[in-house]
Amino acid sequence: MEKTLILYEGKYGHSEKTAKILRDSLPDARCLPAAEAPEGLDDVTNLFLVFGFLAYDTAQVLKPYLKAHQEELKDKFIGVVGVGLAKQALPAFLKIIQEPMGREADGSWFVMGGYRIEQLTPEDKELLEEFWGKRGVPLTDQLHFQEENVRCIAEEIRKKLEL
Ligand SMILES: Cc1cc2nc3c(=O)[nH]c(=O)nc-3n(C[C@H](O)[C@H](O)[C@H](O)COP(=O)(O)O)c2cc1C
Repeated sequence: MEKTLILYEGKYGHSEKTAKILRDSLPDARCLPAAEAPEGLDDVTNLFLVFGFLAYDTAQVLKPYLKAHQEELKDKFIGVVGVGLAKQALPAFLKIIQEPMGREADGSWFVMGGYRIEQLTPEDKELLEEFWGKRGVPLTDQLHFQEENVRCIAEEIRKKLEL
């Protein structure tokens, strides 16, 4: 039986939501926050990494975990699901997560996430105000997450893995 583990890491809830929809849409799948990732990965066939694009805070828990488990990752299917605002950013963030894996992912997907200004930490608010300010755009809520997009990705994954 194929066993699927989905590890997620984010800050504003969209990576968690994405991981939970994937879990509910894939057979024999479980999902955990990266901070609760299991010690060993022996019983895992397919590993999915779901993480938000968060500047200095990106995959801070996943990266050392992957580095410590490089040997075990060699024979698994690894799927990366990046959660952000710009799909063009996926290749750069894929590099960030693949480096500690010591190998390439077998598949990658992008999910539109977002944030509410009221949820942002002061550091993130300042960083985003500067980012948007340079483009002459005020900082506004970004609410682009759609469950349906994640269900479509789950369907693609099921077909790809023949689950
Ligand atoms: C500090 C910060 C930096 C971000 N940088 C990027 C970025 O470089 N590219 C992008 O597409 N989205 C960027 N975003 C948008 C986030 O990826 C988006 O809010 C996503 O939903 C975060 O995942 P989470 O909801 O699981 O925390 C950034 C958001 C924050 C707060």
